[in-house]
Amino acid sequence: MAFNPRIEEADMVENFDLDRVRADFPALNREMNGKPLIYLDTAASALKPQCVIDAMSDLMGGPYANIHRGLYEMSQTTTSAYEGARKKIAEFIGAHSDNEIIFTRNGTEAINLVAQSWGRQHLGENDIVLLSELEHHANIVPWHMLREERGVILEFVPVDDQGNLDLESYRQKIQNPSVKMAAFAHISNALGTVLPIKEMIALARDNNVTTLVDGCQGVMHGAVNVQDLGCDFYTFSGHKLYGPSGIGVLYGREDLLNAMPPYQGGGDMIERVSYEHVDYQKAPARFEAGTPAIVEAVGLGRSTDYLLGLGWAAISTHENDLYDHLCEALGKIEGLKLIGAADERVSVASFVVDGVHPHDLGTLLDKQGVAVRVGHHCAEPLMKRLNVPSGTVRASIGLYNSHDDVEAFIAALKKAKMFF
Ligand code: ALA
Repeated sequence: MAFNPRIEEADMVENFDLDRVRADFPALNREMNGKPLIYLDTAASALKPQCVIDAMSDLMGGPYANIHRGLYEMSQTTTSAYEGARKKIAEFIGAHSDNEIIFTRNGTEAINLVAQSWGRQHLGENDIVLLSELEHHANIVPWHMLREERGVILEFVPVDDQGNLDLESYRQKIQNPSVKMAAFAHISNALGTVLPIKEMIALARDNNVTTLVDGCQGVMHGAVNVQDLGCDFYTFSGHKLYGPSGIGVLYGREDLLNAMPPYQGGGDMIERVSYEHVDYQKAPARFEAGTPAIVEAVGLGRSTDYLLGLGWAAISTHENDLYDHLCEALGKIEGLKLIGAADERVSVASFVVDGVHPHDLGTLLDKQGVAVRVGHHCAEPLMKRLNVPSGTVRASIGLYNSHDDVEAFIAALKKAKMFF
């Protein structure tokens, strides 16, 4: 199924049992600075449902042992749990085979793996890596490292003042035969813009350009099917998908992965090694040197069960409803300017308030129990492009947020604003 966070009206679900969902997230019972927590920072990291916490502690306090190494029962059980998690992720994103799922430390490491392995193999002087102006640093800096090392050129597809990608410019740039890689976000972490990735991937394929989608903000807002998208690589982190930190995912087409050199060397990734020679395993083992994040993989697998149990239609309907409420309420605040009002966007509302530094607003919101992110959101070039060099205040919605959260946030914001 094609990814479309703004789902068809026919699929909309009215009966999302929010009270039950909220009861699954123990952190929502917390106070912050003596005030009930209003958590509007899911784009930075999502809170965790109890089932993920339980899956991890049940393994650690249960049959935990190292994987792929022991013949004894506990090791076999833990290996099955780890490989079972890989299977769940493969199914979750519609991969053709479990072998296409590499567990990494986070989404950033997944992009670095592609840049250092595929990039060093395929990119040389004056080859172009095509990015968009709204990328997170994680999808800029690994390519800058190749620019510094071997003279690769970075080109950026512009966005307009609302944060819409200039698709016509992309269409023209992708036809340049020097473009070898097109790497772009699925959804902007700073603005919430949803990029037309299916069309962008198709255009890249028509021009024999390899594609990487940074899905860190995409994978938690709707169904992703990498085969339907047709991308070569898709990357994301576990902690934004209601799973643990310390784990990320690189999806890569199996033939591409098996043709790529390893990224790191060590145990578990070799077929055979001698003092003189080494043969590497195929993917995924080839890219998972050393003891991996076993417990975290199992936690991430459990979070995908949880999301599928709720259903994307229910999640999207609820999130989009809240998002409309949030943007409408922010739009009524005098002196507040929304940064980025792209035609297609989800979850993220970024804004500035006349004469108030985002950090000062963030501090006053924190005192009232409201968690938002302030600053450049690891998208410094985009903030400069949009003329907000001090960055923005960013409120982002997760599946557990409520209309009361939005109202409490707006009240706290008005109070903070009166201070200045
Ligand atoms: N990339 C995360 C964010 O946007 C950390 O906040």
